[in-house]
Amino acid sequence: MPIKISKHIQTKAPTLFPDADQASVYAAQQIAELIHQKQREGNQVTLGLATGNTPKKVYQELIRLHKNEGLSFQNVITFNLDEYYPIGPDNDQSYTYFMRHNLFDHIDIQQENIYIPQTNSTPQEVAKYCQAYEDKIAEYGGLDLQLLGIGRNGHIGFNEPGSSFESTTRLVNLHPLTREDAIAQFGTIDKVPHQAISIGIHTIMQAKRILLLALGERKSEIMNKALSGEISVDIPASILQTMSQVEYILDQEAAVLIQEEDRV
Ligand code: PGA
Repeated sequence: MPIKISKHIQTKAPTLFPDADQASVYAAQQIAELIHQKQREGNQVTLGLATGNTPKKVYQELIRLHKNEGLSFQNVITFNLDEYYPIGPDNDQSYTYFMRHNLFDHIDIQQENIYIPQTNSTPQEVAKYCQAYEDKIAEYGGLDLQLLGIGRNGHIGFNEPGSSFESTTRLVNLHPLTREDAIAQFGTIDKVPHQAISIGIHTIMQAKRILLLALGERKSEIMNKALSGEISVDIPASILQTMSQVEYILDQEAAVLIQEEDRV
């Protein structure tokens, strides 16, 4: 059972789990329940999806639910948060590759319902492409649920520190810490792209439900700031403190700096 923490400030209390596996299974269950609910209503469901280490186990659980428990993705539309710019979709460091490998190749989602920013537009065309991505999300009535990780600098998507809370899908410059964290993926710092396309903070805030998942001790410092610190563009995730549709899902290690006296 999750443990609830009560905060002195208005921020939504995080839902805590003893470990990453249990936190991830819980996040997957939230997604699966929404898919089932929309199926019962005869509706499609629009999911905003994330990449990186954090959501991998969520996707593993969704695959398990598909293979063993009959969860179908036939009514699911997905929009990914971001993609490096430029990068080819077949490049195994691309998020398109990541999503195919970690989720889409293993479930019954319809290929035409998958949207991931494609970064083959020229610098002249990219703003138009970003607007079209934004328009496509709106065409589906916005995101029913957005799954988020958090960067060590507080970014959500690739909305780096300094990003406007009004931002929409656009080309962004990657922060040095973000590039450093991507070395594991690209091998050396000089191979890590300097730019990306990311949906905006405004786009994320429009989602009807937001699940922010943070796992491991390396996220504890930023989670403490994002949950209890000042709301500022310096910590993009801090804006979520103002939003009632957010649920923070943390493992014990990510919550280690959350004050003992705040727990109930
Ligand atoms: P990570 O990245 O899941 O690989 O830690 C999270 C993020 O940068 O949003």
